[in-house]
Formats: sequence, structure tokens, C-alpha cells
Amino acid sequence: MTVNSESHAIESILHESRLFPPTPEFAAAAHVSGEAELDRLRAEAEADPEAFWADKAAHLHWFKPWDRVLDWNPPFAKWFDGGKINVSYNCLDRHLGSWRRNKAAIIWEGEPGDTRTLTYQQLHREVCLFANVLKKFDVKVGDRVAIYMPMTPEIAIAMLACARIGATHSVIFGGFSAEALRDRINDAGCKLVVTADGAWRRGTEVKLKAAVDDALTQTPSVTTCIVVNRTGSQIHMQPGRDHWWHEMMETVNDDCPASELDSEHPLFILYTSGTTGKPKGILHTTGGYLTQAALTTKWVFDMKDEDVYWCTADVGWVTGHSYVVYGPLANGATVLMYEGAPNFPEPDRFWQIIDKYKVTIFYTAPTAIRAFIRWGERWVLKHDLRSLRLLGTVGEPINPEAWMWYHQVIGKGRCPIVDTWWQTETGGIMISPLPGATPTKPGTATKPLPGIDIDIQTRDGRSVGVNEGGYLVIKRPWPGMLRTIWGDDERFRKQYWDEIEGVYFAGDGARRDELGYHWIMGRVDDVINVSGHRLGTAEIESALVSHEAVAEAAVVGRPDEMKGSAIVAFVSLEGSRTGNDELKAALREHVAKEIGALAKPDDIRFSDALPKTRSGKIMRRLLREIAASGVVMGDVSTLEDFSVLEKLRTDEE
Ligand code: PRX
Repeated sequence: MTVNSESHAIESILHESRLFPPTPEFAAAAHVSGEAELDRLRAEAEADPEAFWADKAAHLHWFKPWDRVLDWNPPFAKWFDGGKINVSYNCLDRHLGSWRRNKAAIIWEGEPGDTRTLTYQQLHREVCLFANVLKKFDVKVGDRVAIYMPMTPEIAIAMLACARIGATHSVIFGGFSAEALRDRINDAGCKLVVTADGAWRRGTEVKLKAAVDDALTQTPSVTTCIVVNRTGSQIHMQPGRDHWWHEMMETVNDDCPASELDSEHPLFILYTSGTTGKPKGILHTTGGYLTQAALTTKWVFDMKDEDVYWCTADVGWVTGHSYVVYGPLANGATVLMYEGAPNFPEPDRFWQIIDKYKVTIFYTAPTAIRAFIRWGERWVLKHDLRSLRLLGTVGEPINPEAWMWYHQVIGKGRCPIVDTWWQTETGGIMISPLPGATPTKPGTATKPLPGIDIDIQTRDGRSVGVNEGGYLVIKRPWPGMLRTIWGDDERFRKQYWDEIEGVYFAGDGARRDELGYHWIMGRVDDVINVSGHRLGTAEIESALVSHEAVAEAAVVGRPDEMKGSAIVAFVSLEGSRTGNDELKAALREHVAKEIGALAKPDDIRFSDALPKTRSGKIMRRLLREIAASGVVMGDVSTLEDFSVLEKLRTDEE
């Protein structure tokens, strides 16, 4: 395995033996109560997976029932084919016939402190209005709509409006640059862009519309841009193309019945990083995706009507799609949404919000938890967190120390922690404790959910033994699975299904302990997980070499206490150029411009040459070792020129 840099962490957590069973009170009230019940559900799903998923899908509203639960023509799956369904109907209209009509669907707080609450009835109305705005600009079933927005209720409204009329949305995280936005818009051939003048982040404005203006100079498919007035700053509005959201909403009525869509209708495309420079447009469809998002929200978060649920992820990531918008709203939950940074104006903003709105379920990333630890307990102690009853994490392995801090300082030892493993590609949670059933152990996502068939295998498809490392694979199709990479079935097949025969290759290393609990050891490919965000090293390399001073670049991850991985770039320069701090700063800015600030290298090292094999392949493994520890322990027999390595090592000292 090539998870060298992670093996130290694995060593230390091997000795983790603390078990935290759910309290009897929590278990008694939970949707899934006790391990025996969970085992029974697993056995039931194992015995007849299709019947299990059909039963879960039946909890949704279908205009027409499906003909077939699963049509599996590897690697292409169709779930609930023949069925007609609408995600927006399931998230909204379904609740209007009950008391939930007047329940808060979204409670929102902006970074400056402004707030808004939308009941299901009000959210429904806004979604219908905006769906009619989309129609007014000729957006039809199957058209793609790009969404590049701040975390305001309008982002959810825009997504649900697309879903309502069968337009496929592609949300692009607001931290991506104009160039990244342009490439994603062009790859999907979007017709319309929804954005805002700006977003508030740490007290300053992120200028979204300016980035859109840049991007739209090279996006021939875009005819219309709708702009939310969020910050009120001066922006350019191009006549004929750009329209204000609030003005357009006044030109339409609120009557917009939800379209009856095929279960396999494309709901959204979400771009994620892979092993090549080109981001992959992960395609998710309708009926199967919603079935899994809704079920996992109910079970993993033990979602109840009284809960105030807060997932801190930005809607620009898959966590925001499945667990801010679709899963919770399909359950009729109350979702808290916050626009800004956790440390603005002070590092206690999150705890203040939990206290103010009496949040009961809190779902965040390990990297955030590590930041909270650094900022100190005193910020937590200023607030009353007694409303919390359940905590969750996602995005990267959580180190047991951070888990224990989360458990004790935030959860006061009372709240179960659900460590949820999944991916953009899986659509929904795959491995996780159920809080009223699974005894948890710090650092492990525990076991696959019922209906999910996970294994850990060697390259040649052999299941590994207890505590042996291997590749995490998924053996059976699941309803929320990606259907393809947008426009590239071949890449879809190659990337996920050709690596190990007959199974889905997740790209993570893992092992299973004697309890059958899964320990994720991190990525095994050239993808690094920086502060819970997935970045392809090839993407950053291609940004670097597009700078005129750079001849060649290799990017690797280095274990980092706060971020999980830090980005280290080894760069060789053109001709007689020499590296200095000024050039380092310029290269960091260049990467921010090409991809976004989240991809800026933490460390840039200049070198005359990079270590290569005789066939000219950069030996990233060596660079990873140099970045992590300054020494190379592994095999160097295939290295072409040993002096390069010597030089890199000396530079390091
Ligand atoms: O490496 C795993 C890590 O995040 C990757 C998926 O990243 P992304 O598609 O951006 O989705 C993140 C949110 C679902 C995985 O391949 N990962 C995610 N959750 C966990 C995790 N690693 C360990 N433990 C987790 N709970």
C-alpha cells in the first residue's frame, strides 16, 4: 500500500480500546434502538437487498411506482426504474398537508448577524416562484444550471427550484476561482448561472459576481445570470444577460406544480478532484439518491421533529447537498444554516449559535474540531450547550484525541458521536454508527449501514484479514451511487470499476479490527484531503506549470496536525530562473487564481530537478517521504539520478 505517511497514525490508534455504548435513554428513544435491532436490519438487508431498499424508497412520495427496483448492468445502475418522482415535491409539498406546513424548514443566520426563518410553506412558495423564474428564461427539463452562491437560503431555493422543474444543478463552491468556475460551467454546458453580488466571510466580502463576470467571458453556453442582492456592493450588471433575483421574483406567480420525473433523471452534477488535472463531474440522479439521503438522515442523525439540526458544511460540497438540503428537508426537519466563518467576530461563534437556537444535532469536520481545540476551551465554556444531544463528523479520519475532546468538551460526555464515512461519489453515508445502537470507538466510523456491502481487499480482489490493511471497496450497487462521470462513461469505468475486478474502488485505504469496525487510513491515490476538502495533486501541478516561471512541478501531501494534509509543491524552474520568496508568493497567488485559495501550497520547494524513474515518472512516494520527514526510507532502486535525492535532502536541512 502507498499510505506511508499515514502509517504512524494507524500504529497509534491500533491500541484504541475505549468503547462508548449509547446511554439507555438515548437508545430507548432512537429510531434504531440497540445493537440487536441494528443487526436484525443488517441481516434483513443482506438477505434481500432489493426488498430492503424498495421498502425504504416507499417512504417517499412517488407519482408512479417503479417497474424494477434495480437494473444492474455493471458499472451502470438504474434504481427504481419506471418510477416517477420529484425531489422538490418530497422535500416540500409533502409536508404542506400536515402541521409541518408551519414548521421552520430553514433557520438562517448571516455572518453579520442578520437572521431569517422560512417555514415549509414559505420555502415552498419561494421555490415555486424561482422555478417560474427559471422557466421564464427558458430553462427546461435536463438543462444545466450553475449555482455559485453564498450560504443563504437562496442557495437551497435555487437547488430545489431546479429539482422542481427537472433542471440539473451544478453547485460550485464559492471559494473556487473564476477559472475553476468557467471550466465547470463549460464541462456541463450550463445555460444559466445563479449567483450573488458577494458573500460575507470573516467580515470581508467575497466578490462572487466579479468572478462570475470573469468566467462568463468564456462560457458560450450561458445566456442568463440571476443575481441575489446579498452584500449590496457595487457590481456590474450586463444588460440582457444579468438580472436581479428580487426583481425577477416579482414578475412571476407562485403556481408551479412539481414535474413528474423519471427516477433516473439527473438531479445534480457535483465536481470533485481525481487523479488527473481535470475535475470529475459526479452525476447523481433522483429516486435512489433521495431514498438513501432521506434514510441515512433519519437513522444516522436520529432525526426527530423537535430537533434543530445543524450541519456546518457549505452547500458547495456533497455534505451540503445531502445533509443540509435534501436529506433533512425530505424528513421535514428544521435545518439551521449559517453563512460565515466559525471564528467571526470571535472564536465562539458556533457555540453562540448553538446556544441561541438551541441546536440539538451538530455535524462538522475533524479539521474544524482541531481548530476549536487550538482556540481553546474557554470559548466553549462561555455558552450553554445543553441543548445538544448528538454530534457528528465527516470528511477525513478523526484522530482519537480530537474525538475525545469533541465528546467531553462539546458533548459533555452525554452525546453520541457519529463518525460518518462516505464520498461525493456515494451520495450518502455508507459507514457510520447508529447513535442509539452502536457502541462507538474514537477514530473509527465503525460498520457499514444496513444494505451497504463493504469489503477491504488486496489489488487482486482478495479480502484481507483482521487488522490487515487493504483497499476499501463496495461490492454491491447502492441507491445513492454516482451513475457516471458527466460526459465520460469511460473514465467512470476506469476510475472506479477497473481497479479491482467486480467492485467499486473507493480510493481509500482501510482495515477492519476484531470488532469488525472500519478504520479509514486515508487516500491511496494522488488525491489529498486538505481540511476535509478533496484536492487532486495533478490539478495543483497543472496550475503551477501554467505559470511562466515553472518548468515542472510535483505536489504531495504532508501530514498536518490541523489540516489533515498540508500541500507541499516541489518546483523546478525554467532556464536560469532562481527561486526566492517573492516567486513563492507569486506561485501561491497563481494557484489561488487558477483553482481557489483552498488549493494554495503551504510549502513550495525549488529544485533543479525532480526525482524520476528511468522511464521519466516522478517518484512522488519519495517526495512524500521528504515532505513528511526529510528522509527517504523506502526502496530507491528505480531512481534514475541519485544526486537529485541528495540535493532535495540537503535543501531540506
Ligand atoms: O478519504 C475519505 C474521506 O473523504 C473522502 C471523500 O471526500 P469527498 O468526496 O470530498 O466527500 C467528503 C464528504 C463526504 C473519502 O474518500 N472521508 C470522508 N469521510 C471520512 C473520511 N475519512 C475518514 N473518516 C470519515 N468519516
